[in-house]
Amino acid sequence: MTVESVQPESRPEPAAAPDEPPAGQLLEPPVAGGAVPFLGHGLKLVRDPLGFMSGLRDHGDVVRLRLGPKTVYAVTAPTLTGAVALSPDYIISGPLWESLEGLLGKQGVATANGALHRRQRRTIQPAFRLDAIPAYGPIMEEEAHALTARWSSGEVVDCTAESFRIAVRIAARCLLRGQYMDERAERLCAALATVFRGMYRRMVVPLGPLYRLPLPGNREFNRALADLHLLVDEIVAERRASGQKPDDLLTALLEAKDENGEPIGEQEIHDQVVAILTPGSETIASTVMWLLQALAAHPEHADRIRAEVDSVTNGRPVGFDDVRRLTHTNNVIVETMRLRPAVWILTRRAVADTELGGYRIPAGADIIYSPYAIQRDPRSYPDHLEFDPDRWLPERSKDVPKYAMSPFSVGNRKCPSDHFSMAQLSLVTAAVATRFRLEQAPGSNDAVRVGITLRPHNLLVRPLAR
Ligand code: HEM
Repeated sequence: MTVESVQPESRPEPAAAPDEPPAGQLLEPPVAGGAVPFLGHGLKLVRDPLGFMSGLRDHGDVVRLRLGPKTVYAVTAPTLTGAVALSPDYIISGPLWESLEGLLGKQGVATANGALHRRQRRTIQPAFRLDAIPAYGPIMEEEAHALTARWSSGEVVDCTAESFRIAVRIAARCLLRGQYMDERAERLCAALATVFRGMYRRMVVPLGPLYRLPLPGNREFNRALADLHLLVDEIVAERRASGQKPDDLLTALLEAKDENGEPIGEQEIHDQVVAILTPGSETIASTVMWLLQALAAHPEHADRIRAEVDSVTNGRPVGFDDVRRLTHTNNVIVETMRLRPAVWILTRRAVADTELGGYRIPAGADIIYSPYAIQRDPRSYPDHLEFDPDRWLPERSKDVPKYAMSPFSVGNRKCPSDHFSMAQLSLVTAAVATRFRLEQAPGSNDAVRVGITLRPHNLLVRPLAR
């Protein structure tokens, strides 16, 4: 069901990195062409981040970028991005994470490192284990069918709002169980949508004090951020007051102990809930939007999904237990994630002098790589820009180089939610494709909008009952 499942472990190892020079003679990575005085490559990265990151592969497997006064190392070969993700020499750090921490909290699992990160992963992991997912099946089914029940044939659907709604509702209802989540999920949707929009702006255009001016945009952002933190406090307080301990992620966090066997602090519990809800909703919402766009753009695959679901369910509503038999549905999701990965850029910082692909990487170096560029590399994928879900059939997917398709990443920072995500994406895609044909409505704009994740600018679809 996961992306990994379409890439058998027995796949041959990719070609080794180019001949490495003897120890002590490591090379400096080349500087990518096109830098301009003072700004270096910064302008290009801001103006056309996807085109710029994709073009870097022509300059080398590891290249240096000049971003103002800073040097950043960009990694462009799949093998080497895998090496970075798997190596303890690189940690989560750098400007991207620092700005996230400032807004979302410093003690969440997504930004912690070392022993704290390991302990936090141990606490949250059971809620995401493969054998924990079936318990979420009824909620995922309910939400997927509620989504299609809300839609009327011929009436335009705002995909941004609908995708956020289902993502937040599933994450909140499954992981922080409780009736109160039903009304709070709507507030969470509104707060998260505004916070993410503003966060990206603050990350790429760090104007510091200007964001503190009492301008309408800043006020709206601050209100949404405050509401997000307030909501999380309310959720935690109500659970405590209820005295209940359902078997869920929130109970695991409330009962977690630190390295001295003491209960973890209030701030850590709060930051953990934020750190799980925020990546959990933005990534799923963006992927659902791209799936709706793909169903509208490729009706032949929507028809194949419908036929596949019918053959499995004989006309009853699709359920969680059907998902593992929906091969084509899965392949459409994986292909959509290949071409439109929610997480399009990842960063790390080297904590020691190290070597990558024969090049010297100094301690303290900031590293970036782009799953978007890696997953569109013509050296890894024939007809690399074609939407071709059948490339994930076993006989073809075995030729995909290792780490050329890792939308959930690998190593110790791998997304804990790969199974959880794939299950809900499959159910939503199957439920929509069986009930409706989709077409884009007038005024829809499916051009890529680059933010913390990639998503369409403003996708509007018209569902037509089958
Ligand atoms: C981390 C992708 C859904 C929670 C990550 C990372 C990726 C990713 C690539 C690694 C980041 C890095 O290496 O720096 C995705 C995609 C999703 C998805 C593509 C859906 C399509 C979710 C959901 C949740 C979630 C639904 C929670 C409900 C997290 C957390 C981390 C993470 C907590 C940080 C893990 C750590 O640092 O140890 N995700 N994710 N993700 N994801 Fe997801």
